[in-house]
Amino acid sequence: MKGIILHGGHGTRLRPLTHTGPKQLLPIANKPMSQYCLESLRDAGIKDIAIIIGGTGSNKVQEYYGNGEKFGVKISYVFQDSPRGIAHAIRLCKEFVNGEKVVVFLGDNILKKSIADYVKKFNDSNASASILLCEVDNPTQFGIADVKDGVIKKIMEKPKNPPTNLAVTGIYLLTDTIFDIIDRLKPSWRNEYEITDALQMLLEEGHKIVYNTVTDYWKDTGTPHDIIHANHVILNDMKPYFDGTKEENVTISGNIMVGAGTVIKNGSKIIGPVIIGQNCKIGPNSTIGPNISIGYDSKISGCNIENSIIMSGCDINGDFTIKDSIIAFNCEIKKSDTLSKIFLLGEGTKISL
Ligand code: G1P
Repeated sequence: MKGIILHGGHGTRLRPLTHTGPKQLLPIANKPMSQYCLESLRDAGIKDIAIIIGGTGSNKVQEYYGNGEKFGVKISYVFQDSPRGIAHAIRLCKEFVNGEKVVVFLGDNILKKSIADYVKKFNDSNASASILLCEVDNPTQFGIADVKDGVIKKIMEKPKNPPTNLAVTGIYLLTDTIFDIIDRLKPSWRNEYEITDALQMLLEEGHKIVYNTVTDYWKDTGTPHDIIHANHVILNDMKPYFDGTKEENVTISGNIMVGAGTVIKNGSKIIGPVIIGQNCKIGPNSTIGPNISIGYDSKISGCNIENSIIMSGCDINGDFTIKDSIIAFNCEIKKSDTLSKIFLLGEGTKISL
């Protein structure tokens, strides 16, 4: 069985974070979100994986994952020249799949539960496809399955009047029948070759599609709010460790992961769940948490930070509170003594003063 991870697209809803790289490399609990997909495939025994790249910063994906050896898998890269839809991306992998069954994982989907059982069941079955469905509050935003008595009747993309609230998640278990279907697919209203249209065509042509329902956590991390939410859920689940040092008068509570070389300085308070990478300086007199990821080599002093992601190499210093924020690599935020503020902001930046 093979694996495919989709790692392209423009990530427009996450600008300016995506001006310099693909959204799937944005960190959740200090790890690129697509690494969770890769590990999920690997842990289900799928070690031959194609990553589809294209768009801003594709080279960063290759630099990070390399040939996959470091992650215990073998990686091939497939280039998609423009984002023409999930089905189009899958079609580019026909030679790679080479007649085997395949699991396709959208690189911006976070699934807490292991996929091993679904993969095993699909491997042993004669179904042409198996999909994972998850109940959502906003069904007009997703592919939706109409299910009656345990049987999928219809699959549609972002319907105006959804018949159910069962979203088709971005984890698709497929046989190579899909390629013949995609070859006959027409682009949708958004000019994309939709995987949901391909699945619907499979159904119409009498192929069997089975499904499982995800009752655990699944998130399509389309917006900053989604990313901060996924960060919280993943942090809550991590095993605590403390490899750094702390000075006197520091209080620590909840689930905390602290990397080597990190110092928590006098008068600081860390409220879990919190992850802090290696070689950071936290404090003095800072309150960090709950729900915080801080990358490596960052300095934070004097401030309170809640429910946020601060990437590596940041320098934040001043007696203010930051919350519900994502601050990308190498940002500097300092208190200014004058009423006038100095900014150097990328396109699409959001600030509240
Ligand atoms: C895509 C699929 C949609 C699916 C979703 C899951 O949507 O087209 O069917 O429900 O991924 O993440 P998109 O992210 O392209 O809007």
